[in-house]
Amino acid sequence: MRRCLKWLVATAVVLPVSGLLIAWLGIIHVGATGGHWAVTEWFLHWTMRSSVRTAALGIEKPLGFENASSIQIAAVHFEEGCAECHGSPVGRRSAEVLAMLPAPPDLRASIGGWKDEELFVIVRDGLRYTGMPAWPGGGRDEEVWAMVAFLRELPGMNAARYQELSGDDASERSPFSSCLSCHRQSAQGSDESIPVIAGQTEPYLTQALHAYISGKRKSGFMEVAVSKFEETDIAAAARHFADLSTQLSAKVTTPVADERVIALTQTGDPLKKIAGCNACHDGRNLRYPLLGAQSRSYLRQQLLLFRENRRGDSATERLMSQAVRNLSDEDIDRLAAHYASIRPAEAPR
Ligand code: HEC
Ligand code: HEC
Ligand code: HEC
Repeated sequence: MRRCLKWLVATAVVLPVSGLLIAWLGIIHVGATGGHWAVTEWFLHWTMRSSVRTAALGIEKPLGFENASSIQIAAVHFEEGCAECHGSPVGRRSAEVLAMLPAPPDLRASIGGWKDEELFVIVRDGLRYTGMPAWPGGGRDEEVWAMVAFLRELPGMNAARYQELSGDDASERSPFSSCLSCHRQSAQGSDESIPVIAGQTEPYLTQALHAYISGKRKSGFMEVAVSKFEETDIAAAARHFADLSTQLSAKVTTPVADERVIALTQTGDPLKKIAGCNACHDGRNLRYPLLGAQSRSYLRQQLLLFRENRRGDSATERLMSQAVRNLSDEDIDRLAAHYASIRPAEAPR
C-alpha cells in the first residue's frame, strides 16, 4: 500500500515537471507549416465535434427561422464578415487564408454533416484555437439563426443568386449604398425585421450608430456593418438618412387603432405604470425616435428587447425600458401594428 502511494506521488510530480520541461526546451513545433499529423488532426476534429454536439443538446430551434428576409440580411453579413475566410459562390480566397491551420473549410462542401442546432452553436460561440470568431452581438440569438438559415441555402446557391442576395443595390448611387444592401428602400411596405432608417431624426440616428460602435447596443449585423466608421462617417450617415424624409411616410397603410391602443399611446396605463407613448414619441424631442411607418416586426422585436432590458445600457434605454416594462405580449403586437400603419409624427427641422 505504502509503495503504491509512493509511486502515485512520484508520478504526480514527475509527469507535470517533464511536461513543463519539454515545453520550455521549445521542441514542440508551433509553426503552421506542414499541417498536423493525421492522428492529431483526427483527435482535434473528434474533440471539436463532440464538444459542439454536447453544447447543441440544450438548444431549441425557433419555428420558422428560415424566412426570406433573414436569409437576405445574413447573406450581406456573410459577404462582409465570413466570405474572406470561407469563400463564396463569387469570390476566391487569399493565399494567407488558405495557409491558416486549420484552413477554414469551404462551407458549401462541409456543412451538410452538421445539424441546425450544431451550426447555431458554432456560429454563436466560434471555435477556440482555430481563428473561427464568435458572433459579435452577444445575446442576439435570432441573428445567429438567420445566419444558420442562410448557411442551409448556401450549398445549392449559384453566383447570380448569391449576388442578388448579398450585393449592393446597384440602382442606388449614394456613398452609403452598402447600408442599403440591408436597409433596402424597396423593403418599405413589406414586413421585415430590418428598420427603416430613411427619414428618422438625425440626433437619434447619431445616437444609435454610437451605441452600436461602442458595443452598448448589441447587434452582430450592425456592429460589423459600422466597424470601420469614424466620427465623420457617423455624422455624414445620420445626415444622409435623416434627409430622406419622404421615404418613411411612403409606406403608410390603413391605420390600425382600437381603444386600447389609443389609450396606451395617449395616456398610457397608470394602473400598470405604463407611460403614454406620445409623451416622448410625438416628434418634438429629436433624440427620441419616430415610430410611424416603421417596420412592424422590427417594432415588435425592439419592444420585446426593451421589456426584457436587453436593448442596451444607455441612459435613454433605461427611460424607455421603464416606460414599457409592464406591456403584455398582446399590447406589444397591437402597438407595433399601430405604429407601422401611421404616418410618422412631423419632426421640426
Ligand atoms: C478569420 C477566419 C474566419 C472567419 C472570419 C470566419 N470563420 Fe468560420 N471557421 C474558420 C476556421 C479556421 C474554421 C475551421 C475550424 C476547424 O476546422 O476546426 C471555421 C469553421 C466554421 C464552421 C464549421 C465548418 C465545418 O464543417 O467544420 C462554420 C459553420 C463556420 N465556420 C461559419 C462561419 C460563419 C457563418 C462566419 C461569419 C459570421 C465565419 N465562419 C467566419 C475561420 C473563420
Ligand atoms: C447586414 C445588414 C445590415 C447592414 C449592411 C447595415 N445594417 Fe443597419 N441595421 C441592421 C439591423 C438588422 C438593424 C436592427 C438591429 C437591432 O436589432 O438593434 C439595424 C439597425 C440600424 C440602425 C438603428 C435604427 C433604429 O431605428 O434604431 C441604424 C441607425 C442603422 N442600422 C444604420 C446603418 C448604416 C448607416 C449602415 C451602413 C453603414 C447600416 N445600418 C448597414 C442591418 C444592417
Ligand atoms: C419617457 C419617454 C418615453 C416613453 C414614455 C416611451 N418611449 Fe419609446 N423610446 C424612448 C427613447 C429615449 C428611445 C430610444 C432609446 C435608445 O436609444 O435606446 C425609445 C425607443 C423606442 C423604440 C425603438 C425605436 C427604434 O427605432 O429602434 C420603440 C419601438 C418605442 N420606443 C416604442 C414606445 C412605445 C410603444 C411607447 C408607449 C407604450 C413608448 N415607446 C414610450 C422614450 C420613450
